[in-house]
Amino acid sequence: MDELLARHRAVLPNWMGLYYDHPLELVSGSGSRVTDSSGKSYLDFFCGILTNMLGYDVPEVREAVERQLAKGIVHISTLYLIRSQVELAEKLARLSGIENAKVFFTNSGTEANETALMLATAARGSNQVLAMRNSYHGRSFGAVAITGNVAWKSSPLAPFGVHYLHGTDRHLPAFARLSDEEYIAACTADLRHLLSMAARDVACLIAEPVQGVGGFTMPPDGLFGAYAAVLRERGILFISDEVQTAWGRTGEHFWGIGAHGVTPDMMTFAKGLGNGFAIGGVIARGDLMDGLPGSGISTFGGNPLSTTAASASLDYLLDHDLQANAAVLGSMIITGLAEAAAPLRAVGEVRGKGLMFAVDLVDPATGAPSPALATRMLEETRERGLLIGKGGLSGHALRMAPPMTLTEADAKEGLGILVDALRAVDAEAAR
Ligand SMILES: Cc1ncc(COP(=O)(O)O)c(C=O)c1O
Repeated sequence: MDELLARHRAVLPNWMGLYYDHPLELVSGSGSRVTDSSGKSYLDFFCGILTNMLGYDVPEVREAVERQLAKGIVHISTLYLIRSQVELAEKLARLSGIENAKVFFTNSGTEANETALMLATAARGSNQVLAMRNSYHGRSFGAVAITGNVAWKSSPLAPFGVHYLHGTDRHLPAFARLSDEEYIAACTADLRHLLSMAARDVACLIAEPVQGVGGFTMPPDGLFGAYAAVLRERGILFISDEVQTAWGRTGEHFWGIGAHGVTPDMMTFAKGLGNGFAIGGVIARGDLMDGLPGSGISTFGGNPLSTTAASASLDYLLDHDLQANAAVLGSMIITGLAEAAAPLRAVGEVRGKGLMFAVDLVDPATGAPSPALATRMLEETRERGLLIGKGGLSGHALRMAPPMTLTEADAKEGLGILVDALRAVDAEAAR
């Protein structure tokens, strides 16, 4: 393992972080579990960053992919008709609720967001973009330009004029005492103020319903509905970045934006749809999708293999009503975590929706974010056989997103490990 780590460090970028003091090589998986190169197995509550949404080695997906491989065509390009691509686009357009929806497939969330920004700026003839503080939308030049999290902002240069909105910063003294309604009213008034004095002819707002990299932080339900009403008055478009929140993961809605009572003009997706096969894309109103002035293509986007895998994954998810599973097991885990964390001074907050939940680690003495304790928690859970993630502006939020196929037994086991590890870290921090 040390040898592989040394080789990794020699040839891969140093800004591509690895988890754990002794990074893991995971070599096989089945259901909610993965096994490392030493033979130790783990319950996986992070799933390749919310991407293996059905867990590992799902026969229905594997067999669909094998059938496509057996046909001999993995790639053919969008110069030809691709049946699996058309079928998947039909399903997504129907599920989106967007009027006359059309779909463009990419290979990643970054490309999906680049495409949505391209569509919005072309439609509006403007490069002025609104984004959220603490946001993350990808690693490309354009996506980094609308990222409101300095830790992930690898370039200060930008093709857009960007204004960052309030909505996930209730902890600030100015907002801390406000009710949900008052906070939404304050944020909306700020948006109106911004639009009237600082930002002219804005193209769009892009926002994550639950911020992923930001540590599963989220505005109160309804905020984006209130924002959308203001934007609509001015013809400004609204893009919901559903890369982490789609497919019913939040339990209560199929798309994360459902919590805000608004249908966006566009949605972007990636991660979970292919259950590990690289696929992303944009679902947009037909007039917006067709409105690009030039030709466009993504060579690999929507290829026969990824769209076959995605279609099989989506069918599996819908046939087994995994959104309902996310709602039930997610609320069981979140409630259990909140109860167990109440007496622990190293826990700042437990939050989440469905199978997307987070725990903030703080210094027990000062209440300040503690990335060190979050790192400790990763090691403690790993030792106990559970994989989890991290995030947040200060790297102090534990992020958990188990597969949506999670069983009740797995949920209880994972919760037990988390609680046990939290108590151990809390006790250690109090010393
Ligand atoms: C909300 C959100 N948007 C976009 C992206 C970028 O997706 P990708 O890494 O597939 O380019 C991510 C990745 O974490 C994300 O969380």
